[in-house]
Amino acid sequence: MQAAKHEHWSSSFTFFLAAVGSAVGLGNIWRFPYVVAENGGGAFVLIYLAIVIVFGIPLLMSELMIGRSTQKPPLSAIQSFGQTSGTSSAQKLWHALGWSYLLVPMGILTFYSVVAGWTLDYALGMGIGTFNDLKEGESAEMFQDLLRSPVKLIFWMTLSIGITVAIVARGLKSGLEKTVKILMPALFVILIILVLYASITGDFARSFAFMFEPDFSKITPKLVLMAAGQAFFSLSLGSGAIMVYGSYLTRDISIPKMAVGVAFADTAVALLAGFAIFPIVFAFGVDHAAGPGLVFVTLPIVFNDMGGIGQVFGVLFFLLLAFAAITSTISLLEPMVAQLSESGRIKRARVAIYCGAVLWSVGIFVALSNNILRDVHPLGFLPLFEGKTIEGVIEFLAANVFMLLNGMLVSIFVGWSIKRTITLEEMGLGDSILFKLWFMLVRFVVPLGVGFIFYDVVL
Ligand code: PHE
Repeated sequence: MQAAKHEHWSSSFTFFLAAVGSAVGLGNIWRFPYVVAENGGGAFVLIYLAIVIVFGIPLLMSELMIGRSTQKPPLSAIQSFGQTSGTSSAQKLWHALGWSYLLVPMGILTFYSVVAGWTLDYALGMGIGTFNDLKEGESAEMFQDLLRSPVKLIFWMTLSIGITVAIVARGLKSGLEKTVKILMPALFVILIILVLYASITGDFARSFAFMFEPDFSKITPKLVLMAAGQAFFSLSLGSGAIMVYGSYLTRDISIPKMAVGVAFADTAVALLAGFAIFPIVFAFGVDHAAGPGLVFVTLPIVFNDMGGIGQVFGVLFFLLLAFAAITSTISLLEPMVAQLSESGRIKRARVAIYCGAVLWSVGIFVALSNNILRDVHPLGFLPLFEGKTIEGVIEFLAANVFMLLNGMLVSIFVGWSIKRTITLEEMGLGDSILFKLWFMLVRFVVPLGVGFIFYDVVL
């Protein structure tokens, strides 16, 4: 069934790196620590881990399966299954779901590119010594300076969109595989060094307690929603990225193994990021509700504290973080580009550029929502969106509403609409206990669980 020009990963290892490249990014290092800090630590981490296991892994398997068995980009993939089953209103729903799988990653990209820009600015700043001899409180002030500068934000955002477009335009093999092979392992090594340093100089015991001793009274519907959103965001679920990467998979690769591997690696990096940051937060009295700036306020303090070598580490760290971000932005742009260039009528490169232009235009508003448009609160009349800027609204809608909704619908799709014989064959687990467990999670637990999370928060 495979079209001749459809590309495939060179090996299961390159697929694994690319999928980990998609999953590991700003979500782990920028977003995880600040969302943990804002939502009360241990209780959040506990729920997060449970969601990764119970919802995350089964959904990774489902999305990979849809991609691989159809060998098509998300909209076509969901449609080609959808057409053969169900009533016409079900087909309309699956059509809408397919679109949502293309549009959500574009929405994420609008703010992701801005934050990726921050890492580039910090890499440069580290390199030229802007952060040398930091005094107390200065790093928070410097982060604010960046946010106050429309020119800088737009410049760096433009660069990160440009890099993403350039890589995606060249296609899977030449663009992506090379990028992930070296950079992902390098990021991992430097993160370990940071954790070691932070645990020696910082308050390791307190961060351990903060992350792993849950205060059950903190568990609220909102916390569960945030944890689910963070888990989906971090695992790249509900957004087309995993599905489109799945469509480049060959049949000899085990989907369950890959899903477990990706979930494990992604979670490990998120926890490591926590252990690199919280010891310093506690030891140096950084305001731990610092919000999205947490990493950018905390780490310059560490690098400064390390002395001369710290500057080298600083440049390396922010550069690698920028690369980790880029391996994620590539997977965010790929679904739309793969879809629109599927028929071959418009060239991939051209589609990538058009998409980049659209992203850039919306991204401008996101960038400006940090300064000139700071007081614009688009959905401020709704309690859940109170005080949220344009960036905040897009981030919340993408991660905590649409990714979850997509995941819920796709599990219904896989569990109830696609024939069991197909899923059975794709999983390659035989009709075993493991397969049955997965099937039960996808049919009942994921849709009901996510549905309940929404229901609980809204009411
Ligand atoms: N998982 C990525 C991260 O943690 C973000 C992402 C979301 C990438 C959705 C692709 C799709 O940074």
